[in-house]
Amino acid sequence: MAAIVVVGTQWGDEGKGKYIDILSGDADYVVRYSGGNNAGHTIVYEGIKHAFHLIPSGMLRKGKTCIIANGVVIDPLILITEIERLKQQEIETAELLISDRAHVIMPWHIELDNLQEKMRGKEALGTTKRGIGPAYADKAERSGIRMGDLLDADYFREKVYGIIKIKNAIIEKVYGGTPIDPEKTINEYLGYAEKLKPYITDVNSVIHRALEESKTVLFEGAQATFLDLDFGTYPYVTSSNPISGGVCVGAGVGPKMITEVLGVMKAYTSRVGLGPFITEQNNEIGDKIRELGHEYGTTTGRPRRCGWLDLVMVKYAARINGLTGLCINHLDTIGKLDSIKLCVNYKLNGKIIDYYPSSLKELSACEPVYEEFESWKDYDISRIRRFEMLPVPAREYIRRIEEITRVPIKYIGVGPGRDQTITM
Ligand code: GDP
Ligand code: IMO
Ligand code: MG
Repeated sequence: MAAIVVVGTQWGDEGKGKYIDILSGDADYVVRYSGGNNAGHTIVYEGIKHAFHLIPSGMLRKGKTCIIANGVVIDPLILITEIERLKQQEIETAELLISDRAHVIMPWHIELDNLQEKMRGKEALGTTKRGIGPAYADKAERSGIRMGDLLDADYFREKVYGIIKIKNAIIEKVYGGTPIDPEKTINEYLGYAEKLKPYITDVNSVIHRALEESKTVLFEGAQATFLDLDFGTYPYVTSSNPISGGVCVGAGVGPKMITEVLGVMKAYTSRVGLGPFITEQNNEIGDKIRELGHEYGTTTGRPRRCGWLDLVMVKYAARINGLTGLCINHLDTIGKLDSIKLCVNYKLNGKIIDYYPSSLKELSACEPVYEEFESWKDYDISRIRRFEMLPVPAREYIRRIEEITRVPIKYIGVGPGRDQTITM
């Protein structure tokens, strides 16, 4: 039995989708356990780019089972669009199952996400405006609707009428927005339910049966450690728990069942959305990383903020997630710069600190302590598949990351393709 968790160690977009796609070759099940269509996971297979927002990134593997578990919030229209797009492409795909316990993103969640961001003004969080925060808030407030509820038309209708009067009062009276039509919503969502019905089931039994039968189950993280509601740079975070602990709640798996936790990171750092970023290069270096690494959001198309690799973050992620291995992407990208900086510590008031500050004020006052590395810009490493074949400065950079984080490096990405990976 293997239950392998793949998590982001930074602010998302580390290339989790790529590793899920690669590792799913040897897995039986792939399970998304948190987040929603705020995620954008890119897979490049046979030269074609596939972006998944809700569907697990193991979907391009026939004979596997992909599961959207209870911890995910689902926008049914987005899910149907993704399913139909795959069908049109006539690609052989895995089987898909959706948890009856997963919460549904309703039109008022999307509306409120937009209205709240607008009203926050300068204090906006830079959300993806997909209704994620309001959907998770309603789940906690116990006014959410679950996928299973969509299958009982009378119950669903009753729920919508019960909830919408409160939501519309907030939309109109607090934000001055346009109220949502209950009948239109009910009809739309019952239409979605008809399409999704064949996939909706009690997925927890499926996951447990798989583990009992010693199958290999991959748990696909969305977002990342520093977007985690509890451990990220609050309030500039998402509203779920993307960390490895999120698997226990988001898929109903006991902690002792997890056998491996792989942390995905880039050889630099990127962030989309607002919030502190200690090693950010808001200058020509950041611009160069963005252009070389094609750092534009998969979900919103926003340019990603770019900067040097921050190992204080990765060390913290190693602890919070209990990482057993690291996957480093974009070694090809960072090597194209003239030289490279690596943040190994933070200094606060002139002193090195050994923790990741929870206070944003304190965090913003931290100064990065850098080590400088030679780049390998004269080498195209995108075709290299063995560590020993990498140029010396690239190996030195990787070894230093391993030394500081004290987490063994398992994979190195030298390009976006499924095969552009070095296995250690
Ligand atoms: P995710 O959200 O963590 O799955 O990551 P995204 O798909 O949003 O962003 C990662 C981007 O980097 C995608 O465009 C990938 O195709 C690309 N990518 C992943 N690994 C590598 C790599 O090693 N080198 C290069 N050049 N691109 C990569
Ligand atoms: P993947 O899975 C990068 C960011 C948003 C915003 C914050 C809150 O592709 O790594 P939300 O809409 O979740 O309420 O927005 O979180 N964010 C992501 N950034 N990658 C993601 O997912 C993200 N999902 C959310 O930009 O700053
Ligand atoms: Mg992404």
